[in-house]
Amino acid sequence: MPLGIYATKSRGEYLILILKPHNPNPYLCTAMYNNIISENQGVVQIITINREEKLNALNVELIQEIGQEVARLNKEKTVRGIIITGKGQKAFAAGADIAEFANFGEAQAKEMSAKGGEVFTSLEKSKIPVIAAVNGYALGGGCELTMACHVRIASNNALFGQPEVNLGVPPGYGGTQRLAQIIGRGRALDMLITAKSINAATALDYGLVTQVVSPEELMPTCITYVEKLVGKSPLAIAEVIKCTNALYENMDGLHYEIDSFARSFETPDFNEGTTAFIEKRKPNYG
Ligand code: COA
Repeated sequence: MPLGIYATKSRGEYLILILKPHNPNPYLCTAMYNNIISENQGVVQIITINREEKLNALNVELIQEIGQEVARLNKEKTVRGIIITGKGQKAFAAGADIAEFANFGEAQAKEMSAKGGEVFTSLEKSKIPVIAAVNGYALGGGCELTMACHVRIASNNALFGQPEVNLGVPPGYGGTQRLAQIIGRGRALDMLITAKSINAATALDYGLVTQVVSPEELMPTCITYVEKLVGKSPLAIAEVIKCTNALYENMDGLHYEIDSFARSFETPDFNEGTTAFIEKRKPNYG
C-alpha cells in the first residue's frame, strides 16, 4: 500500500489508516471525534487531547469523547495500554474549559461535574492500564485527568496544580479526593487552598508522578512502559486494578482480594503463567 491516508469502516466506526514515511507500522486513527485523536500502534493506543490553541482545555464534549474511546478500547483484545497526552509542547490540559462553563448555573454545573466525573471514574476502572504522559500544564481538570489515570509519567516541563479557588469554585472532577489519596491530605490541602502549582521534580517527590524524563523521551518512555506489559497477564492486571480500587470504594478490599486471587486460579492466564514458569519459558498471553 503506498503512503497516504485511507478510510475504512470497522464495527460501525470510521477508521483512518495513516501510512507514514519511515514507519513500517501504520497508525490507525479513529475519525469519529472532534476534540481528541486516537492512534493505534499495536499494543499501544495513544489518545491525544487535540485543542492545542486552547492549551488543551477540557470541554464537556472532549471529556465524553475520552470516555467513549476508553470504553471502546476496553472491548479490544489487542491493546495493552492506553496513553493519554496533550497536543503540542506546552500543555497536557490547562483545565476545564473556563469559557464554556463561565455562564453555567447550578444545574448545568452539577451535570458537568457528574457526567465528567463518571468518565474520570471509568478511566480509573479501565481494565487496560491508562498512563498519563504529562507534557506541560496539568492544571485543574487537567491535573484531575492525570490522577484518574493509573500511572503518571511527566516531562521535566510539566506543571501540576488545582487553581480552582482562584475562580471561586472547588475542583469538580474528583480533585479533592484523588489528590489527597495520592499525595496525602496535608500536601493536597496545601495545594488546593493556595492554588499553587508544583513542578515535575516536586510532583516526583510527592509521589504524584512515578518518573520524570525530558520532553523528547516522554512518549518513547510511555510506549516502552506499555510494551513491557505484554509479558504480563492482562487478566491479572485487570484484577490488580480492581483490587486496588476497592480500597477507595468503601469495599472490603482484603476480602475482595481473596476472591480475586481464588478466581484467577480458574483462568487460562494462570494456567499459562504457571506452566511457562515450570517449562522455563516466557508466558504467552496472546
Ligand atoms: N479554559 C479555556 N481556555 C483556556 C484555558 C482554560 N482552562 N486555559 C488556557 N486557555 C486558553 C486561553 O484563553 C487562550 O485562548 P485565546 O488565545 O483564545 O485567548 C489560550 O488558551 C492560551 O492561553 P494563555 O493564557 O494565553 O497562555 P499563557 O501561556 O499566557 O498562560 C496558563 C498559560 C495555563 C497559565 C493560563 O492559560 C491559565 O491560567 N489558564 C487557566 C488555568 C486554570 O485556571 N485552570 C483551571 C480551570 S478549572
